[in-house]
Amino acid sequence: MRRKLALISAAALAATGGVVVITNQAFAAAGCSAKYTITNQWPGGFQAQVDVTNLGDALTSWNVGWDFGNASQTITQIWNANKTQSGLHVNATNMSYNGNVATNGTISFGFTGNWSGANPSGTNFTVNGTACTGSTSSPSASASASASPSASSNPTAPVVSLTSPTSGSTFTAPATVGLAASASAPGSTVSKVEFYNGTTLLGTDTSSPYTFSWTNVATGSYSLTAKAYNAANVSTTSTAVSITVTGGNTGGTHVDNPYVGAKVYVNPDWSAKAAAEPGGSRVSNQPTGVWLDTIAAITAPSGSGYTTSMRKHLDNALAQGATLAQFVIYNLPGRDCAALASNGELGPTEINRYKTEYIDPIAAIEADPKYASIRIVNIVEIDSLPNLVTNAGGEAGATAACATMKANGNYVTGVQYALSKLHAAGTNIYNYIDAAHHGWLGWDSNFGPAAQLFASTAQGATGGFSTVDGFITNTANYSALSEPFVTINATVGGQSIRQSKWVDWNFYTDELTFAQAFRNQLVSLGFNSNIGMLIDTSRNGWGGSARPTAASTSTDMNTWVNASRIDRRIHAGNWCNQSGAGLGERPRATPAPGIDAYVWIKPPGESDGSSSLIPTGPNNPGGKGFDGMCDPAYTGNGRNGNSMSGALPNAPVSGAWFSAQFQQLMQNAYPAL
Ligand code: BGC
Repeated sequence: MRRKLALISAAALAATGGVVVITNQAFAAAGCSAKYTITNQWPGGFQAQVDVTNLGDALTSWNVGWDFGNASQTITQIWNANKTQSGLHVNATNMSYNGNVATNGTISFGFTGNWSGANPSGTNFTVNGTACTGSTSSPSASASASASPSASSNPTAPVVSLTSPTSGSTFTAPATVGLAASASAPGSTVSKVEFYNGTTLLGTDTSSPYTFSWTNVATGSYSLTAKAYNAANVSTTSTAVSITVTGGNTGGTHVDNPYVGAKVYVNPDWSAKAAAEPGGSRVSNQPTGVWLDTIAAITAPSGSGYTTSMRKHLDNALAQGATLAQFVIYNLPGRDCAALASNGELGPTEINRYKTEYIDPIAAIEADPKYASIRIVNIVEIDSLPNLVTNAGGEAGATAACATMKANGNYVTGVQYALSKLHAAGTNIYNYIDAAHHGWLGWDSNFGPAAQLFASTAQGATGGFSTVDGFITNTANYSALSEPFVTINATVGGQSIRQSKWVDWNFYTDELTFAQAFRNQLVSLGFNSNIGMLIDTSRNGWGGSARPTAASTSTDMNTWVNASRIDRRIHAGNWCNQSGAGLGERPRATPAPGIDAYVWIKPPGESDGSSSLIPTGPNNPGGKGFDGMCDPAYTGNGRNGNSMSGALPNAPVSGAWFSAQFQQLMQNAYPAL
């Protein structure tokens, strides 16, 4: 820039007879955009990455400044930069080897730090004192004022307008809004046009005609702009265009906790099976989840094995006077990558079928104004993102199938698509992402990375964090809701119970403390502060005669923990048809701080998987696989510490009715029936 300006002034002098004074010859363009990413976070600590793009002239040294938002945030170690921190303010300067940064080059460094309470992202980034606003100050403005240079030798700011949509346009949700801009760059070329909703970047186009298709737009009002850049990175933002998206399903206000005051839909199919069991009428009126576990489950064609389509369920809900219905979205490509009992119908690469044959039809049904009075809760994709965190790398329990799904990105893409599309289907739609359970994500090595993955996944959805109303833990699992004796700070002989074989250094011993802590973690990473947790209490009661009524008096750590714990499993990694389990807390709203509801998403009495290989045929119409974890004789794998499976014998394929299990669940219910 400096060199260019000198040339301009010479040209200008020649053109005007030497009388022009260039007032800003010493001006150097400066500008930057900054990105702050928390790459890992755990209780008390975090790791972050800073990437600053230099939009101005090339630099030979740099000093990046920013502000933390919480007094507890302190840098402990930094790499690729030197640091000084004073209160909330931090400065990072270059090392001997990375001071030179070209125009459009990136300054990158990382650090670890401490935090408590909250860990907000850094703000107010500067480079060498210039605020990182995402654009440069234009050096040409005052030069052209005094020197009137020709357009070809002195680039001025681009000219841009948003030509589509036109101001005042209305669309129907979930909408596709086609954006188009016309842009020119006097004296230069247009390098790119960005399209924004408010301050959120929607998309970028680098060649004319400049267009972007914004899809899955939810009901609401939006302010759209186009921002054009010239070759020198000088930018201009167009006049804003206001549009409105209406319709979809505007079933009343989107409330904080949909379970408050709601009458929850009772699935008549499950209810009939429960009622047909001796004693089953004591629970057959409880609401349970409706699992959309295949494409066929949406329309329930004859011969598919499904008796009730999704529309029929919603019609039934209207007939019941229900105001909330719970659907489980469970059909990702390469589903259930760490186990075999619930492998799905779509292969690892069939993401387009997932979108068009599965999510799109579900979203269209949820968007039907006929169902506007029903709050529709979507439980989004059990086990999928957690499997990417713990079972897709070099861990003890890793599987090739999970590594494939991590590498091809289709779990993340699928969840993002489901969140975007379902959220946009109406104001009566509520998305809860599956967050595994404490015996899966309760270690700090999994807790932070899982929350981080949830955050980056949600941020990549159209609508970002607002597409997520909350999370659910313990879906179809057996982790105890509360451990009154084996609390995380308990000690035996002066030693923490965390070192017992059962707890195995986990930071949580039960679902309630885990769910509440995980909620805080998610909020600290940017999720809305009013997100709520659901806990599936369908089968985590652990009542009956084996339930301890007092803490053990043993002085041996492992004996004490095993005798005192409510969860009677052999290992917390066991998940299939657990022997000794009971029905848990009955479904109810706002049972504890941060918890939107206790729910029965897994319908009690439906098997988790067959105890032996059942060939495809009348007893296994869906061709479900066989997982050793459902075989009582299996001695385990890396995900359950190579322990016995603890599974009940003679179980049918997953989802099929398992009378013996239902009877035991009622017998061991806690609270008792
Ligand atoms: C099965 C589904 C079933 C669900 C509820 C899952 O384990 O894979 O097919 O609908 O459990 O029982």
